Amino acid sequence: MTIIVTGGAGFIGSNFVFHMLNKYPDYRIICLDALTYAGNMSTLKSVMDNPNFRFVKASITDREAVDKLFEEEKPDIVVNFAAESHVDRSIENPSVFLETNILGTQVMMDACRKHGIKRYHQVSTDEVYGDLPLDRPDLFFTEETPIHTSSPYSASKASADLLVMAYHRTFGLPVTISRCSNNYGPYHFPEKLIPLMIANALNDKPLPVYGKGENVRDWLYVEDHCKAIDLIIHNGRVGEVYNIGGHNEMANIDIVKIICKELGKPESLITYVADRKGHDMRYAIDPTKIHNELGWLPETKFADGIKKTIQWYLDNKDWWEEIISGEYRNYYEKMYGDRH
Ligand code: NAD
Ligand code: DAU
Repeated sequence: MTIIVTGGAGFIGSNFVFHMLNKYPDYRIICLDALTYAGNMSTLKSVMDNPNFRFVKASITDREAVDKLFEEEKPDIVVNFAAESHVDRSIENPSVFLETNILGTQVMMDACRKHGIKRYHQVSTDEVYGDLPLDRPDLFFTEETPIHTSSPYSASKASADLLVMAYHRTFGLPVTISRCSNNYGPYHFPEKLIPLMIANALNDKPLPVYGKGENVRDWLYVEDHCKAIDLIIHNGRVGEVYNIGGHNEMANIDIVKIICKELGKPESLITYVADRKGHDMRYAIDPTKIHNELGWLPETKFADGIKKTIQWYLDNKDWWEEIISGEYRNYYEKMYGDRH
């Protein structure tokens, strides 16, 4: 089995590459990644010498490069993680989100059509459903929840999902889509809430909480997401959407307080800053379908996962210190410099 994993030098994609190489020693895993600011070769260093692994630097929007790779590798499965993934960046500059997330998806699916494929899997997000109110804890996103997006990021992911379904219906492409809640774990880029708070707390820097910190996210340990995708590409039904989530809703402020406590840092580091524009209030996934059809359940409890994650950031300072000392500094200054 040969699998092309796009975006495999990023957070979830790299964890998926490790999971697959570990679990299936006879599979060939090809990582196709453009190495944007979010992709990191040092993340993949432990697998670069693995004879079952190949890294190819190219953009999913580059039709010629994608075509050449398909000709060389004749993949059985494509798992498309590659995307611009940060909501705040999509508010600053939407264009690249449309190019990568929508047009890149089209290029990958066109290659699948041309060369033939057993499965094209689109890694999507719960953000395509918009948000839920805080005062209705009885409501959850199911696969039937209408798409209702808030940010340029979520709109680009929803557009891609619609295109994936259109390629299935019109061209018979064997597709699946997964829509997952917020992931956390090793190799999470330090612009996102959990790693940003860990890095800032370790450096005794302010912890910038948007608005009142009451927005709720449904956190899932990244390995559980990877296991769910593994199940879907092998046993999921073609043409179906699967929601993935941890039944682990938490307010942002509570996450930040846990991180302070675990690191022995004072809560006085917490600074409330201007809210995100169009900030989604609450995400909550109903994962009944993937549980009933594929037997998936989250395995890592948040209390354990967050400890493991913090320990990983303590043990791998080189990885994130290199990132935050580079171009990321300009980003941080621009986004947080005068955010009161
Ligand atoms: P990430 O930003 O950490 O990584 C994205 C990767 O894609 C990087 O390696 C980057 O170099 C690569 N990439 C970007 N543009 C590319 C292009 N044009 N061609 C090839 N490679 C390109 O993202 P992540 O958090 O790992 O998210 C991966 C996928 O999962 C995304 O599709 C995202 O929408 C989805 N998702 C993320 C979460 C989450 O909590 N992080 C939850 C649900 C779904
Ligand atoms: O739900 C899945 C989505 O989760 C994925 O599709 C996205 O790719 C991923 O980035 C994530 O989106 P969020 O916007 O939920 O994640 P982020 O880490 O950016 O923010 C989480 C919450 O924390 C959100 O309510 C905003 C808040 N926040 C974030 C940052 C970066 C802060 O309060 N302060 C911050 O500095």
